[in-house]
Amino acid sequence: MATNRGQFNSRLGFVLAAAGSAVGLGNIWKFPFEVGAGGGAAFVVIYLAFCFLLCFPVMISEIAIGRKTQLNAVGAFKKLGHHNWAWIGLLGILAGVFILSFYNVVAGWAFGYFLQMVQGNFEIGENFGSYISEWESIGLYGLVFMGVTALIVSKGIQGGIEKAAKILMPTLFAMIIGLMIYAFTLENAMAGIEYYLVPDFSEITGEVIYSALGQAFFSLSLGMGALITYGSYVSRKQDIVRSAAMITLTDVSVAFLAGLMIFPLVAFLNSGDMSSVSGGPGLIFATLPGVFEGLGPTLGIVIGAAFFLLLSFAALTSTVSLLEVPVAYLVDEKKIKRPVAVWGMATLIFLLGIPSLLGNGAVEQLTSFMTLYRDGQEQMISFMDFVELIASDTFLPLGGTVIAIFTAYIWKKHNLNAELMEGRETDSQWMMKYINFAVMFFCPLILGAITIITILERFFGIQVF
Ligand code: PHE
Repeated sequence: MATNRGQFNSRLGFVLAAAGSAVGLGNIWKFPFEVGAGGGAAFVVIYLAFCFLLCFPVMISEIAIGRKTQLNAVGAFKKLGHHNWAWIGLLGILAGVFILSFYNVVAGWAFGYFLQMVQGNFEIGENFGSYISEWESIGLYGLVFMGVTALIVSKGIQGGIEKAAKILMPTLFAMIIGLMIYAFTLENAMAGIEYYLVPDFSEITGEVIYSALGQAFFSLSLGMGALITYGSYVSRKQDIVRSAAMITLTDVSVAFLAGLMIFPLVAFLNSGDMSSVSGGPGLIFATLPGVFEGLGPTLGIVIGAAFFLLLSFAALTSTVSLLEVPVAYLVDEKKIKRPVAVWGMATLIFLLGIPSLLGNGAVEQLTSFMTLYRDGQEQMISFMDFVELIASDTFLPLGGTVIAIFTAYIWKKHNLNAELMEGRETDSQWMMKYINFAVMFFCPLILGAITIITILERFFGIQVF
C-alpha cells in the first residue's frame, strides 16, 4: 500500500511542502491583525511561547503518527489505537474542510488585490469594506483559486508544488524583508515597532490567550491531521525532530517579520498614534496599497502586484494541504479514486464557503450573524468569524490536546520515541526528554485547560478569569 501512495523526494521536499502548508495567509494576513486585536507585543510573547513549547511537540507527534502508519488522519488513529479513535481524525477533517471554506474566500481577496495592483488601483485600500462585499467578483476569484488547488492536489503529492515552493518561498521571504527595511525608514516607524515589540502585560486577558493559541495552531497547520497526512509521505531516513524544528522556525520567522513590516507602516499611516489600532481582517488589505502608492507609479505597481501575487502563492501551498487531508481520507479509507475525491471535495468545500463569502456585507443576516462573548462582552460576529472561531480557535487546540493524549497514553511514549529515533541525526537527549514531558503532561494539561476555558467563555459567556 505504501508504495503507490507517493512520497516526498527529499528532506528538503518535505520540509518545504510542510513549511508551505504552514506559511500562508495565517502569517501575513492573520497574524498581524491578531496582534492588533490582542493589544500588541504581549500577544506576540504569548504566541511565541505557545509555538515553541506546546505546538512543536504536537507537530512532532503528528509527523511521527503519519510516518509510522503511512495513512491518512482517520486511518492512522484507527491503526495505532482502535476503531474508537477514528473520531480524532474525523474531527480534524471537519476542521480542515471548514477552514478551507473561509480560507479560500480570503485567498480570493488576495488574488483580487493582485489584479487591482496590476491596474494601479491603489485606492482599493480605502475601499476594502465595499470591495469584499462584492461577492460576484470575489466568488469568481475564489472559484479560480479552488480550481487551481484541486488541479495541484489531483496531480498527487510531488506534482509541481515541491518545485514551486522552492522558488516561491524564498522570494516571498526576500520581499517581506525588503518591505520591512523600507518601512523602517518611514516617519514614526519607531512607534509601530514599540507597539509590536515592547509588551504591556496588563493587556493580557483571557481573550488574548485563546486567540494566541488558536493562531499558533492555525499558523503551524496543527491539530487537524495536515501533518499526519504529510508525515505519511515522509521517508524513514528523515529526522523528524529536526524537520519539525525547521518547519516551526520558518513559520514563526515569516509571521514575525510580517509583523515587523506591517506595524511601522500602520504607525506611519496613523502618524504614530497606535492607541486606535484594533486589528481586524482588513489590516494588511487596507494598509499596504497606500504604501505601495508611495513608492511611485511604476515601482508601486511592480512591488504591489508582486507582493499580492506571492501572497496568493503562499495561500496556495496552504490550500493544497488543507484539501489533501480530506482527499487522503477518501482515497485510503473509502477507496475513492483520487481525481474523483479531489474534485468532489473541492466542489463541496467551495459551496460551504458561500455563506462566508456573502457574510462580508452582501447579506446582512450573514454579516451580523450571531452574538458571542469576548472578554465577557457580547459581540456581533459574521458567519466567517463564526466558522473561524469553531474550526480554527476551538477545534484545532482541541485536536492538539487529544493528539498529545493519544500519543502519550494510547500509542505510548516508547513507540513515539522509537519512531523518532529512526533517522535521528544526533543523540542529544534533552530534546527527547522535553518532547516526552510535553506530550505526557504539559500539552494535555495546558492545552486542555485553555480549550475548555475558551469554550466556556466564548460560547457561554462564563468568565473563568
Ligand atoms: N497554516 C496555514 C496558514 O497559516 C493555514 C492552515 C491551517 C493550513 C491548517 C493547513 C491546516 O495560512
